[in-house]
Amino acid sequence: MKLNIVCIPGDGIGPEIVTEAKKVLNKVAETGGHEMVFTDILMGGASIDVHGVPLTDEAIETAKVADAVLMGSIGGDTNTSPWYKLPPEKRPEAGLLKIRKSLGLFANLRPAILYPELRGACPLKEEISVKGFDMLIMRELTGGLYFGERHTVEKDGQKVATDTLTYSEAEIRRIAIKGFEIAMKRRRKVTSVDKANVLDSSRLWRAVVNEVAKDFPEVTLEHMLVDNCAMQLVKDPSQFDVILTENMFGDILSDEASMVTGSIGMLASASLNDTKFGLYEPSHGSAPDIAGKDLANPIATILSAAMMLRYSFDLDKEADAIESAVDKVLKDGYRTGDIMSEGCRKVGCREMGDLIAERI
Ligand code: IPM
Ligand code: MG
Repeated sequence: MKLNIVCIPGDGIGPEIVTEAKKVLNKVAETGGHEMVFTDILMGGASIDVHGVPLTDEAIETAKVADAVLMGSIGGDTNTSPWYKLPPEKRPEAGLLKIRKSLGLFANLRPAILYPELRGACPLKEEISVKGFDMLIMRELTGGLYFGERHTVEKDGQKVATDTLTYSEAEIRRIAIKGFEIAMKRRRKVTSVDKANVLDSSRLWRAVVNEVAKDFPEVTLEHMLVDNCAMQLVKDPSQFDVILTENMFGDILSDEASMVTGSIGMLASASLNDTKFGLYEPSHGSAPDIAGKDLANPIATILSAAMMLRYSFDLDKEADAIESAVDKVLKDGYRTGDIMSEGCRKVGCREMGDLIAERI
């Protein structure tokens, strides 16, 4: 099979971790008889430095004609980087929001798994972590507050800032369907998270989710308020299978969920539209403090590449091969600095990539 993959190395540790993911994908291609064609595009700070904008229209066009996009990470240190002196629409993050919107990537899948080998890194009490957890956050990615109208005006001698949170029934329905479909392939439970005790958009969310649920009688649905969900994630994360939620709640809860795994460097994500096309990226950021030092953990990006093979190319066997190579490397006791524990062997980003590729 010929796979046309656009890569966005991006900023910070992005280029290093994407290099390792390509290494592993090339090994998969070699052993499975596939042809992988990689085309790099610039996004984020890397694009600002060359083009003055975080994402050019040409870059979007290149991404559109590919089969899938594999991304590292974008952005820099918001306190020190000159990128953050630019107006908001010219900053690195604007590129990410633009590519999501332009490619219609409304469904963001963020798994948060407690790896048995890494249980020691879990910051929760042992009586909680011993139960393990494996959840998937299904975050709506192209609506809500992040894409609503916003403005700052001067009123009665002071500045007043406004952001708007809008959702249509259609936007809610399509993400809810994705949530239920994925629950059918998992443990068949959906926790829909909203703030229906206050927000109109959440009351509509709840009503539409209830409607969609009727088409999935085998899935157990529960509704949970977002503040309660934030609490439940540290109290008993094992209760969750699929968490279905809107854009901002999903942004916040997915960071919390990844933190309780203790190993954000391990977590992949996929952003999908209505076709097989998707953008795949690690759940972590660009870690500018360790960039270029061969210290980054490439596993989240490598697992994102596995998700890409599974969701965009239906190459389940190849995706399984990557995931089990990662498991083997962990079982063999190799760790990058972020997940290091006693008795293990510490390796850098490149060596971690080599070790995983060797095990394909
Ligand atoms: C994420 C990030 C982005 C978001 C930022 C960088 C715009 O936090 O992918 O979660 O809020 O979606
Ligand atoms: Mg975020």
